[in-house]
Amino acid sequence: MSLTNQPANAGNPLNNLEEWDDFVESRYPDPESINAQKKKEEFRDYRNTARECVKEFYRLNHLNQSLEFVKEKQKQFLGLNRMEMGIWEAVELLNTLVDDSDPDIELSQLEHLLQTSEAIRRDGHPDWMVLTGLIHDLGKILCLWGEPQWAVVGDTFPVGCAFSDKIVFPEFFDDNPDKQSPGLQTKLGIYEEGCGLDAVNMSWGHDEYMYHVAKDYLPEPALYMIRYHSFYPAHREGEYDYLMTDHDREMFKWVKLFNPYDLYSKSPDQPDPNDLKAYYQELIAKYFPEKIRW
Ligand SMILES: [Fe+2]
Ligand SMILES: [Fe+2]
Repeated sequence: MSLTNQPANAGNPLNNLEEWDDFVESRYPDPESINAQKKKEEFRDYRNTARECVKEFYRLNHLNQSLEFVKEKQKQFLGLNRMEMGIWEAVELLNTLVDDSDPDIELSQLEHLLQTSEAIRRDGHPDWMVLTGLIHDLGKILCLWGEPQWAVVGDTFPVGCAFSDKIVFPEFFDDNPDKQSPGLQTKLGIYEEGCGLDAVNMSWGHDEYMYHVAKDYLPEPALYMIRYHSFYPAHREGEYDYLMTDHDREMFKWVKLFNPYDLYSKSPDQPDPNDLKAYYQELIAKYFPEKIRW
């Protein structure tokens, strides 16, 4: 029985992590596939279409992702003292995160990673961006170490300053402990105008964790793509600009370029990992040592 082959429970409401990805895709549909009959607003009306388990997932996420919680998780994980393993090993480890009891699941983790990276490769982008497609979600191995879903996936946002009302289900922040700290709920909170995103504590999840795992090895645009790929409030809604530097804004062009590959690369023809393994192992070896710290 795989580690996540368990029924959804109170702490982990999603049947599988893809339920979050699928929800985000329905909230931000591929412009090319939008049915001409439907208006954009119909797609945007996420409250009516979100499944109960997805709502419960966001409730737990917004309730618990406080500044103190995030700092605790940074301490717990960013020393990278859990284990040493290679990137491909991590890909295979993440791929054990499946729930084959759920008939709705469309893609394994490996298929999502390969569909993302292969779509980037087909469009002729630099090889480090292809590699970024392959590794961007490896931080989801946090789930295999017992972290709850709401501390692994979900749209990310800054903590330590006011929560934007453009974040999905903003009303769920009402019970977040930071709401009771007036100093954390001003526009800037503990930050300074234009301080730069690197100085900002983001809600904790697979993005921030994987950024720290990869940060010594990849070019800066790749690191922005990894660290901020779930920061929908910024890259889709344009929020939190006042925390950014001009350099962040420049780098967000890459984050925005990456997003459609993550969201819309699902296709019925599943890449065969056996055909691709040699190519990716060579690509991994170009940028990463044999083993890295996790
Ligand atoms: Fe992700
Ligand atoms: Fe992804």
